[in-house]
Amino acid sequence: MNEYRPTIKAATWSENERAIRSVRHAVFVVEQSVPEELDFDGIDPSCCHALAFSGSKVVGTGRVQTDGHIGRVAVLKAWRGQGIGSALVEFLADAAKRKGLSRLYLNAQVSAVEFYEKLGFRRTGDLFMEAGIEHIAMVRETEQLPADAEAGVLPCERKATDYGVRE
Ligand SMILES: CC(C)(COP(=O)(O)OP(=O)(O)OC[C@H]1O[C@@H](n2cnc3c(N)ncnc32)[C@H](O)[C@@H]1OP(=O)(O)O)[C@@H](O)C(=O)NCCC(=O)NCCS
Repeated sequence: MNEYRPTIKAATWSENERAIRSVRHAVFVVEQSVPEELDFDGIDPSCCHALAFSGSKVVGTGRVQTDGHIGRVAVLKAWRGQGIGSALVEFLADAAKRKGLSRLYLNAQVSAVEFYEKLGFRRTGDLFMEAGIEHIAMVRETEQLPADAEAGVLPCERKATDYGVRE
């Protein structure tokens, strides 16, 4: 078991590019052989990002675009299976909801479809190839915001346990 309890924090490309790049490079470029130029596609500056930390170490990341597309969800290998990936997705879903979006979209790698199904996403299309990997489009309706939610405010600095990360 790793020493620290992970936490999820909101991040921006302008302030956290290096940390975001470090996880995505390790997972997508090195582990999955995705070409660097496909992973870093130029739309990161307009996305809302999330980072998962264990102590001061960045162990996961993900992003949501302004239209509700979630993507680039990645957890370093040694940190998988602890609920961090789910916590990242729920954090990004919260951010989208607070921006008034009612649907979340993503293109899931086939190997991750079951992970997203457990988070309430359903398949909406046929298989297609992206970066040499089979993908499938998925969608999830967002729940209503609680009446006292502060619309437009990102859920910064929440504990990962709020999203079900196991200690
Ligand atoms: C997919 C990924 C983000 C999951 O992160 P994680 O932190 O291991 O996920 P969690 O621990 O939150 O898993 C939540 C649940 O999904 C399941 N799950 C996780 N990854 C899964 C997978 N690839 N296939 C099937 N089930 C999976 C877990 O077993 C867990 O189930 P449980 O709640 O019944 O115990 C991580 O494996 C990863 O970074 N993979 C490489 C990059 C990638 O493929 N990203 C997705 C791009 S579309």
